[in-house]
Amino acid sequence: MNPFATHAGPRRVESHMSPVPTADDLENGVSAIAGHFLETFHAEHRALRDLLLALIDAFGKGESSRARRLVAAVSALTGPHFRYEEEALYPGLVPIFGPGYVEKLLADHDDTIRNVRELTELADLALRNDLEEIDDDQAAWGIELTRELLPHLSDCDGLSIMVETLPEDDVVHLLATRDVVMETNLDLLTWAATVRGRHV
Ligand SMILES: [Fe+2]
Repeated sequence: MNPFATHAGPRRVESHMSPVPTADDLENGVSAIAGHFLETFHAEHRALRDLLLALIDAFGKGESSRARRLVAAVSALTGPHFRYEEEALYPGLVPIFGPGYVEKLLADHDDTIRNVRELTELADLALRNDLEEIDDDQAAWGIELTRELLPHLSDCDGLSIMVETLPEDDVVHLLATRDVVMETNLDLLTWAATVRGRHV
């Protein structure tokens, strides 16, 4: 038998990798369960995008109490979202990307946690000083910290194209993990200070 002969059947992945669904398993290239997960995944990213854009607007207008509410909302949304990404999504992506890129995704989360911590302190400054408005330097710093989060967000949403290829069991695990962490519902800074293994 010629060892270099091409395989005539559907493409199969190497045995050490997670199996990728064949075209027969998919409808329009996406399994039903992956499609269900991705709707939720996109909706969370869209909500986070809107919060971050509103936060830039609030800092731009020096609106301290609005900025404080928005930063709290960012922390509340990203807590469970990051947690299921780290506990279920990222491990499932290692066979696709390899460990190097997944480490980069974790480092992006580290950066986001640092920025949200700093944004929380910044948004609380005006309250502590009993001021209605944030001054221009603080506003510019708040905008910069918030803008730094936007590329992480669009990169994360881009992972969807790979989620489409995950085995169904991985997506079931992903959805089940999401249910559990939504139940616990730790905001980002609480999760980062308690349950999360990486300390930043
Ligand atoms: Fe995400």
